Amino acid sequence: MKGIILAGGNGTRLYPMTKVVSKQLLPIYDKPLIYYPLSVLMLAGIREILIISTDLDKPAYERLLGNGDSIGLKISYTVQERPRGLADAFILGESFIGSDSVCLILGDNVFYGQDLTKVLNKATELKEGAIIFGYPVKDARAFGVVEFNKANNVVSIEEKPENPKSNYAVPGIYFYDNSVIEIAKNVKPSIRGEIEITSVNNKYLENKKLKVILLGRGMAWLDTGTPEGLLKAAEYVEAVQSRQGFYIACLEEIAWRRGFISDEQFMAIGESLKMTDYGQYVLSLLLESDFGK
Ligand code: G1P
Repeated sequence: MKGIILAGGNGTRLYPMTKVVSKQLLPIYDKPLIYYPLSVLMLAGIREILIISTDLDKPAYERLLGNGDSIGLKISYTVQERPRGLADAFILGESFIGSDSVCLILGDNVFYGQDLTKVLNKATELKEGAIIFGYPVKDARAFGVVEFNKANNVVSIEEKPENPKSNYAVPGIYFYDNSVIEIAKNVKPSIRGEIEITSVNNKYLENKKLKVILLGRGMAWLDTGTPEGLLKAAEYVEAVQSRQGFYIACLEEIAWRRGFISDEQFMAIGESLKMTDYGQYVLSLLLESDFGK
C-alpha cells in the first residue's frame, strides 16, 4: 500500500501565521505539523510516500524530509497548482500509486491513541473497496458527516451539512483500493469548486464497497484549523510527552522500532541532534535498549 500526504492549500484561515510558512510546517509543540500524519503512515507500515504541496512550499518539505532514506522511507514530492479538492490527490498521484492500493492522510490531521496502530494495521489489509472512519465530535458542521439509518447502517456521507444527521465526523485518513483513481477522475466539482473526498466515499457507498469504522473516545483526533486548535494540540502533545516520557510522532523512533533503520543509524541521528531534547530522547531510547551492552 502506498501513502499520500496532502499538504497543499494556502492556509488562508490561519493568516498571518501562514503567509510565508506552509500550514503543515507550523510547529505543534516540538515538531512540524506534518510529522504527525507522517508518523501515522509509518505506524501503518507504509513506506512509500508522496507529499503533495504547493510549488512555493515544495522545496521546504524537501529540505525537511529529503528522500526519506534516513528514516527508512521512500518519499517523493509533487505539486498541486491550486487547491482543487482532496480527491485531486489520486489524479496527481496516479503514476505514484501505480496498481497499488493507497492511504490518503491530510497533512494537518493529528491522531493519537492506544489502539491507533491496531486500527491502522487492519485497514492496510484492505484488498477491495474503501475504509474510512467516523469520530464523534461536538459540532460536526465543518466536516464530512456520516448518516446512519435505524439499523445503524451508513446511508450517506454529507459534506459540511448545516444540520448534521449525526455527530460522527469523517477524519482526514482514508484507505482505498486502486479504483479510487478512476472514481476521482469522474467526480464533479462541488459548489465550492472542489472535487470532494466525500463524493468519492459516496461512490464507494453506492457500490456497496465502503466500510466506516467508528473510533472510540480513547482516540484523539485533534483540530489544527484555528489558532486555538493549534495551541490546544501543542498543549496536548506537551502534556502526554512530559507525563509519560514518550514522544508522539518521533519519526526516527518509529523507524527504529519498526526495523526501518538499524541501531547504528538511529544512534547517528541521536548524536547529530544531541544538543536538543529531541536528540537526547533518541539517545536515551538506545541506552534503555540492549544496544551497545
Ligand atoms: C476535509 C473534508 C472533510 C473532512 C475533513 C477532515 O475538509 O472535505 O470531509 O471531514 O477534511 O479534516 P476541509 O479540510 O476541506 O475543510
